[in-house]
Amino acid sequence: MKGLILSGGKGTRLRPLTYTRAKQLVPVANKPVLFYGIEAMVDAGIKELGIIVGDTKAEIMEAVGDGSRWGLKITFIEQSAPLGLAHAVLTAEPYLRDEPFVMYLGDNLILSGIRSLVDEFRNGSANAQILLAKVPNPEQFGVAELVDNKVVKLVEKPTEPQSDLALVGVYMFDKTIFQAAKRIHPSARNELEITDAIQELINMGFQVDPHVVRGWWKDTGKLEDMLEANRMVLDNQNSRILGNVDQYSQIDHKVVLEDGAQVVRSTIRGPAIIGAETQIIDSYIGPFTSIQHRCVIRKAEIEHSIILEQAMIENIAGRIEDSLIGRFVEVIKSPCKPRAFRLVLGDRSVVGML
Ligand code: TTP
Repeated sequence: MKGLILSGGKGTRLRPLTYTRAKQLVPVANKPVLFYGIEAMVDAGIKELGIIVGDTKAEIMEAVGDGSRWGLKITFIEQSAPLGLAHAVLTAEPYLRDEPFVMYLGDNLILSGIRSLVDEFRNGSANAQILLAKVPNPEQFGVAELVDNKVVKLVEKPTEPQSDLALVGVYMFDKTIFQAAKRIHPSARNELEITDAIQELINMGFQVDPHVVRGWWKDTGKLEDMLEANRMVLDNQNSRILGNVDQYSQIDHKVVLEDGAQVVRSTIRGPAIIGAETQIIDSYIGPFTSIQHRCVIRKAEIEHSIILEQAMIENIAGRIEDSLIGRFVEVIKSPCKPRAFRLVLGDRSVVGML
């Protein structure tokens, strides 16, 4: 069985970060989202993995490499344009050929992994199997209707949902999906939708089974979801202190301090992760914060945020919360003092705070 990870797309919901960076490389607990998907594939026993790439091909290829660090054989597959998930499947047909495969959306994170789903599909007789999760707001998702534990209908964002089972970004297919995907037409947003292709499979009489996921999962396509994913992963980590902490500093509860990081006259209240060679000076870092490598945080308070590599945050009077700050961004004091900050900044932005 092969794996297919979708890492093309437009990423419009995570702008401005995605003007300059693939959304699948935005880190959750200092690790690119995409790597969680790759690791889930490895854990499920996948040895050959295709990765769909688009405009951000070069940086995805550079970040992932040849796959040897995971013991994987990786093939990058270029999609001509982000024309939908079913279009991505068709683009990968020459690579996948007749083999069954597991498809994973490169910006999704499933804490419990996908091994049981993959095993179930391997041992079963279905033509496709879809991962579903119970959600409180099904009208915002693709929703599956089941009869006798078979999927009979998929509806995209229904106004009156007939079930609370939303499609999660993992699918198992055999080669019949190619026939189905070739029979559908672009949707109103001009994409070949995977929900339409799966519905077509059902209409053609093929068997589509559900697999309901119990653990936590997230599509990290939006800022709030990214912060929530970060919160969830940090909460599951153990403390590991490799950097230096001076005698005036205090560190408590699930803090990872990577190699060469320095904490001076500061408090870090976890769960949090501080990247390699980052300096935290006269500052407070609160729960659910990830700070990547080679950042400088001086006289600032940061909580529930993701700070990307080599950002500099200095002399900020208020607390920075719920923020995603891009690479090489500078946030520095200016004369006036607002009481709260809420920031979504693209890479290399420079902000003078009021
Ligand atoms: P989406 O989040 O549905 O689409 P998007 O990346 O275009 O983002 P936005 O809605 O914010 O504009 O895509 C899910 C995953 O699939 C994501 O990792 C990107 C990838 N993808 C492709 O590889 N090819 C495609 O044609 C599409 C639509 C998405």
